[in-house]
Amino acid sequence: MKVLLLGATGNIGSRLIPALLAHHHSVVAYVRSPSKLQSLLPATLHEQILVVQGDATDSAAIKRAILEHRCEAVVSAAGVAALAPWSHGDLPVIFKAVVEGVRAAGAEGGKMLRLWVMGGQGVLKYPGTGVALSKYFPIFLEHNANLALLTSLPPNTIAWSMLCPNWMVAESRDLSLTSATLREPLDAEAGVPPRWNDSGLKHVPLVGKTLVAAMNARRYRITLEQGAEFVAGDLENGRGEWEGKAVGVIGKGVK
Ligand SMILES: NC(=O)c1ccc[n+]([C@@H]2O[C@H](COP(=O)([O-])OP(=O)(O)OC[C@H]3O[C@@H](n4cnc5c(N)ncnc54)[C@H](OP(=O)(O)O)[C@@H]3O)[C@@H](O)[C@H]2O)c1
Repeated sequence: MKVLLLGATGNIGSRLIPALLAHHHSVVAYVRSPSKLQSLLPATLHEQILVVQGDATDSAAIKRAILEHRCEAVVSAAGVAALAPWSHGDLPVIFKAVVEGVRAAGAEGGKMLRLWVMGGQGVLKYPGTGVALSKYFPIFLEHNANLALLTSLPPNTIAWSMLCPNWMVAESRDLSLTSATLREPLDAEAGVPPRWNDSGLKHVPLVGKTLVAAMNARRYRITLEQGAEFVAGDLENGRGEWEGKAVGVIGKGVK
């Protein structure tokens, strides 16, 4: 698949490059600074991708990049959600521009495009309640508005999926292709965190579910490489099982 990748100079974006290549995709990296990207990547990797300069807040430029390079899928890891509920970053503006660019390119090209975006675990529901985890941990709330934007799209507009990890750490600084797919796989579930450890503590008034969510948090730490591998593998297998879904993930080996 030919994939337009936004945020390729970032933590997960830079891991997505070797992961996508390992899964036989062609990569068009859409970045603000091609020189920054070049300095990050091993030359052997950089020479396998195409680089387009552009801003992720520019929906017309995103649309143009998709159409000019005949991309069939977009992966966006551009922008970072603001941590505190009262602070604002540029993610909402970027997110809207990406969604609009992908929508418009699909409409003009006559083909619905596949889109993977980054979310956070807070958009997932506390299992069995239908209530978003962010109610109990009100951080990174911009992801909630982003998910609301996706779910409000008319049917057959964009085949989107949102990866919703808790937090991600680097497994390695090595961005080469060699070990790109050698990761412990993830278990995934739509809408909720998979394999949640529930506890009677949840019944403690006011703070119960927050305590249980805090007890679970560590279990949902994954690596940037695992997240990248999950997205790249899903695009390769083409089953579309995560389309229209916010996807919770956990390492297969986690108890
Ligand atoms: N890291 C985690 O543990 C974690 C966990 C859960 C969810 N997430 C979510 O995953 C996403 C990516 O996280 P990350 O840690 O990979 O972030 P990051 O390392 O800060 O990367 C952000 C990327 O966005 C790019 N960007 C920002 N503004 C842009 C613009 N106007 N035009 C083009 N590119 C722009 C940056 O490019 P420049 O290099 O040019 O600045 C960079 O490549 C975020 O939404 C985050 O909330 C992250």
